Amino acid sequence: MGYKVVVVGATGNVGREMLNILAEREFPVDEIVALASRKSLGTEVSFGDKTLTTKDLDTFDFTGWDMALFAVGSEATKKYAPKAAEAGCVVIDNSSLYRYDPEIPLIVPEVNPDAIEMYSNKNIIANPNCSTAQMVVALKPLHDRAKIKRVVVSTYQSVSGSGKDAIDELWNQTKGMYVPGQEVAPSVYPKQIAFNVIPHIDVFMDSGDTKEEWKMIAETKKIVDPSIKVTATCVRVPVFVGHSESINIEFEDFLDEDEAREILRTAPGILVVDKREDGGYVTPVECVGDFATFISRIRQDVTIENGLNLWCVSDNLRKGAALNAVQIAELLGRRVLKKG
Ligand SMILES: NC(=O)c1ccc[n+]([C@@H]2O[C@H](COP(=O)([O-])OP(=O)(O)OC[C@H]3O[C@@H](n4cnc5c(N)ncnc54)[C@H](OP(=O)(O)O)[C@@H]3O)[C@@H](O)[C@H]2O)c1
Repeated sequence: MGYKVVVVGATGNVGREMLNILAEREFPVDEIVALASRKSLGTEVSFGDKTLTTKDLDTFDFTGWDMALFAVGSEATKKYAPKAAEAGCVVIDNSSLYRYDPEIPLIVPEVNPDAIEMYSNKNIIANPNCSTAQMVVALKPLHDRAKIKRVVVSTYQSVSGSGKDAIDELWNQTKGMYVPGQEVAPSVYPKQIAFNVIPHIDVFMDSGDTKEEWKMIAETKKIVDPSIKVTATCVRVPVFVGHSESINIEFEDFLDEDEAREILRTAPGILVVDKREDGGYVTPVECVGDFATFISRIRQDVTIENGLNLWCVSDNLRKGAALNAVQIAELLGRRVLKKG
């Protein structure tokens, strides 16, 4: 016996990847339904070698369904996730709506799987922000060995992190640069994204940080350890899929770069590609469609007592969203629901 699974936001980037990954990982599904807004009613989406026809979220009854993987914005989540949870269907949510609620677990299965026990507080589990998910997979095994004091991270985030309209904006703006009269003005982003970089993701906060930067700080504390200090600069770059991060870590204890490399090589969810030669590192185009978080450029930071630098790349639609949500579904199945 398997699970009755709902995918909410099935026509979006993350929703489509959720369906792909559920099929790829042979998640034990008895029945699956794809939901989106009324305007997408009848749109066909793939689930392995099957085709699903999307239904309207607004009229859907969650009663009798085991779990719902939500990949819609916070507003739609606020309206529909409580309906699902109250009907007894466990929500695994990709939006930021519930991440900071102390009663709701925020889970990266390689890092804090035991937090799953809290799911029953509200029948909701939160999935972290894409840039946090890949970073904490790398931080956790190093923290266990040498205790992290402080992290300085700069991100290079792809446009797929802002949804399907952003992918179109980069594509059309890039083409438009070469065709006089077909220039495309910024719409999703505040400035031109084609052939440019934008040091601004999500809204500005009073502190001067953006909300994306704040999310990385708050979520790392909630998932790994509240004592870790994080400072972040989040930057949008003209890459379609794959987020990259330059991470500088200060530890309490000394951690040699070779030992760090060995720790990361055996850590769950990580692939180390770190040769000190041309091309001996991973770039975003190479990580697309992969499950792993790739770590390269591991090296000592000799400007501080116990410092290390590394380069971290992952498919933001996978580890940053859909894969992590499916891993949470697997964890929920294994530890709690125990079907399949
Ligand atoms: N992309 C990432 O890297 C990433 C990472 C982590 C978290 N997330 C989060 O995941 C969520 C989805 O992101 P995305 O990139 O997949 O966005 P997207 O490509 O723009 O897709 C949005 C999906 O939500 C549906 N939707 C929106 N409003 C709805 C409503 N009122 N009722 C029913 N369906 C509605 C859309 O359906 P229609 O097609 O019918 O409009 C579509 O299926 C967001 O909360 C985002 O913040 C994204």
